Amino acid sequence: MMEQDIERILFTEAELKQRVTAMAAEINRDYAGKAPMLVSVLRGSFIFMADLIRGIALPCTVDFMSVSSYGKGTKSSGQVQITKDLSEDISGRDILVVEDILDSGNTLNYLLKILQARHPASIRLCALLDKPSRRVQPVSAEYTGFSIPDYFVVGYGLDYAEKYRNLPYIGVLKPSVYA
Ligand code: PRP
Repeated sequence: MMEQDIERILFTEAELKQRVTAMAAEINRDYAGKAPMLVSVLRGSFIFMADLIRGIALPCTVDFMSVSSYGKGTKSSGQVQITKDLSEDISGRDILVVEDILDSGNTLNYLLKILQARHPASIRLCALLDKPSRRVQPVSAEYTGFSIPDYFVVGYGLDYAEKYRNLPYIGVLKPSVYA
């Protein structure tokens, strides 16, 4: 059972729903009159993206890309690879990059540079979780759901070795699972 591997629940379904709705409202205000393109960075962000976009009342579009840096471990290797690129041209578009977690900043630092070189009208970052204590690159998100200490969290899209993404809440993984 997956639940047995969870030390404690950090954010319940209800807490996530409330915060994601508030983030969408903020985006609606900031992008009023615009049609932003939401870029979901797979795979971790797919559940956050699905909930966030349903709170957005703008004529937005959505695209996906996949960047891999973690493999099966719990620490970022710093090695970033695009495993799936966007389908759409982003030049002249207002881009909102949607991420599940901002950790070392290696992934986003790399990704934002690549996207910036494609000449979007603007580019901002929306991250559900932020671990500021882990940062090695100067990346910050314009929209942050929750700032958290350096806990190993899973659920609501976040994995450990590809498991636990389907938990409806965000929980702290028992160290015995990954030790
Ligand atoms: C996670 C997350 C970010 C990245 C953040 O992805 O979705 O892309 O790590 O870490 P960083 O700030 O240290 O670069 P992961 O590589 O675990 O892949 P996944 O989204 O498929 O789970």
